[in-house]
Amino acid sequence: MLKEESTIEFGHSMRSQFLLDHDYIPLNHGSYGTIPKVVREALRKYQDRIEANPDKFIRRDLELELFKARETVAKFINVETNEIVFVPNTTTGINAILKSLKYEKGDKLLYFSTIYNSIKKLLNFISDTYDGKVELIKIEVTYPISDDDLIDKFVKVIKEEKQKPNTKIKLAIIDSISSNPGILVPFHRLIPILKQNDILSIVDGAHAIGQIPLDIKEIEPDFFVTNCHKWLYTPRGSAILYVPYKNQKNIHPTVTSPFLYQGFISEFSWIGTQDFSSYLSIHAALEFRQKIGGEEKIQNYCKKLAIEGGNLIASILGTEIIGPESIIQNMVNIRLPIPSSHKEFTDKKFLDLMFNKYNFAVAIFEHNEYWYIRASAQIYTDLNDFEKVGHIVKEICDSF
Ligand SMILES: Cc1ncc(COP(=O)(O)O)c(C=O)c1O
Repeated sequence: MLKEESTIEFGHSMRSQFLLDHDYIPLNHGSYGTIPKVVREALRKYQDRIEANPDKFIRRDLELELFKARETVAKFINVETNEIVFVPNTTTGINAILKSLKYEKGDKLLYFSTIYNSIKKLLNFISDTYDGKVELIKIEVTYPISDDDLIDKFVKVIKEEKQKPNTKIKLAIIDSISSNPGILVPFHRLIPILKQNDILSIVDGAHAIGQIPLDIKEIEPDFFVTNCHKWLYTPRGSAILYVPYKNQKNIHPTVTSPFLYQGFISEFSWIGTQDFSSYLSIHAALEFRQKIGGEEKIQNYCKKLAIEGGNLIASILGTEIIGPESIIQNMVNIRLPIPSSHKEFTDKKFLDLMFNKYNFAVAIFEHNEYWYIRASAQIYTDLNDFEKVGHIVKEICDSF
């Protein structure tokens, strides 16, 4: 049971609301998320309801239930209910967009070097499919870099590419919050630049909803995809694909629907039989967030903890975090005192120790010639977790 909102404190006591193992130190919410117990209850309730009479639920109730879930989340991110559909995850959503668009000779697709790996592979696939027609343009980013410098780089590349003959920059993929490193990207400022240059903006918002306030109407991207199963506390396999009315005609699910050409909402509402309960559990996730104090309280707690916790780990390791604080939200990136050139250290060895010996979780990656960890703050973590992980990671680093 939850206490009165005003008496709810975040940190270790919040673990009782989740299902995490007692001894596990979970500083990697960013990768797969996890759900509160009340959301699991809601999920199972929907599953039981469907099982009690699958035919009736699917043939009679599902459409309205999906509509209500879309309506609720649409209000939350300020879009119209019929501008969003559910997809299982961001990968699926971005695949639908990129594989639906048509490409012509000379088309260029822009992306940052920090793009999520599977989305980069998708760009490779598009470029291979349209062999000789489509060119991928990478904008190299190495952190630390200020937002202004990043934007200058972006503008410079657009200018240079536009000057070349017989080419058109068709689209750009930009992160809301990149994965490795986990950094808040100034996507609000990049979208207008794309608009001015007649370039489609596709926002990979995998980490956005629940981590940062979202007002999609205000930023007006051409496409936006966000995972509810990361930071919003819905069960895994629930994401939102936003496509404004003007762009809907040409966007289809990657798996062809029996409702092909019957409209964006219809097509995405059925791409074969599946369990829809994760999507419908969104009400429970939003109610839980409201009950524990709301978005601002959650977001402020996580940001403050990420900064303090990241600095604490860095001080234990004798290194630094990637700053400034303005680019940190719930995830913080801490340099390990180990260069990428180290002969013995590998991410596989680190993960083996992490799972088999120490029982904690962070993300690990290479950036700018060093190994880094990415630690996620969540309402069920506190400074003590970061301190423990700092000492464990030091022990691991010292062993190499
Ligand atoms: C920036 C970014 N994009 C896309 C994804 C893919 O998300 P999913 O596996 O839910 O499709 C992730 C996952 O961590 C991500 O961090």
